[in-house]
Amino acid sequence: MKELQDRVAVITGGASGIGLGMARAFAGAGMKLVIGDLDTAALAAVQDELRNAGADVVGRSCDVSQLDQIEALADLAVDSFGGVNVLCNNAGIGIPTATHKMKLDDWKWIIDVDLWGPIYGVNVFLPLIEEQGEGHINATSSMAGLMAGPMMGAYNVAKHGVVALMATLARDLRGRNSAITASVLCPGPINTNISRHSVEFRPGQAKPKRDGKTSGKVASSIQAVLEKGMDPDEVGRLVLEAIGSDEFWILTHPRWTKAIQNQLDAMNDSRSLTDAR
Ligand SMILES: NC(=O)c1ccc[n+]([C@@H]2O[C@H](COP(=O)([O-])OP(=O)(O)OC[C@H]3O[C@@H](n4cnc5c(N)ncnc54)[C@H](O)[C@@H]3O)[C@@H](O)[C@H]2O)c1
Repeated sequence: MKELQDRVAVITGGASGIGLGMARAFAGAGMKLVIGDLDTAALAAVQDELRNAGADVVGRSCDVSQLDQIEALADLAVDSFGGVNVLCNNAGIGIPTATHKMKLDDWKWIIDVDLWGPIYGVNVFLPLIEEQGEGHINATSSMAGLMAGPMMGAYNVAKHGVVALMATLARDLRGRNSAITASVLCPGPINTNISRHSVEFRPGQAKPKRDGKTSGKVASSIQAVLEKGMDPDEVGRLVLEAIGSDEFWILTHPRWTKAIQNQLDAMNDSRSLTDAR
């Protein structure tokens, strides 16, 4: 898909971090935007920012784990702009917990948001994008979708599922000679608010501390790594370029694929499980 000017893009989780980076990059390319997010205050602020910069944008409160809310987001896109060309299934959360301590409620919540969200997105938006005769579906996975590190069981399972979903979709579209293409974003550390949001949105969870910091040693060390990570606006620009040039794999830290190569080598040689780095 080469021409992006005036194309309509739907972005979930577009009120913060990587999704906001995409929204800014897409708006800069003259695309029309439909943003869905759970955080209505941030969503309102982002719409103001983008409109002030001259973008055509609408937004809606949307929990991606709820099919009817994804359907309502699609209705908003069609009512506002007459159709959809690009979908970015981006909203996501994650809580670090060792497998033996992970509660079933957290498994369910994380997989509902991080995997069922993109499944609902593909199911609802693919027919709409096909009506336009051309377009693109992207989903945000993670390096955790390619390599299962410790402490992140539910997140790893969901993000591996997202890679599988998008690779299957891309191959099925190719098999049908469709003009629709697909891609998957697998970021390494990006400087966003995901740790704080994940604590805040966790069902049944007390509100996070007022200083915005997450509690727990592992969460704090993840937060420290993310704070040194890539600027999310840079990720947005990478996604824009990849959609324009029909790349499937969008990697922010390509050198990290070495760990995957090491795992493949050990799989063939010693059959042992390597470390995740
Ligand atoms: N930050 C990183 O280092 C990193 C690395 C790899 C992958 N990712 C992935 O990138 C995506 C975006 O995360 P981010 O880092 O920009 O975090 P972020 O918290 O800054 O942004 C995520 C946005 O999603 C929204 N959201 C959360 N749950 C939602 C739900 N159920 N329905 C709708 N919106 C919801 C939040 O309100 C927020 O605006 C996620 O899928 C995440 O797993 C992030």
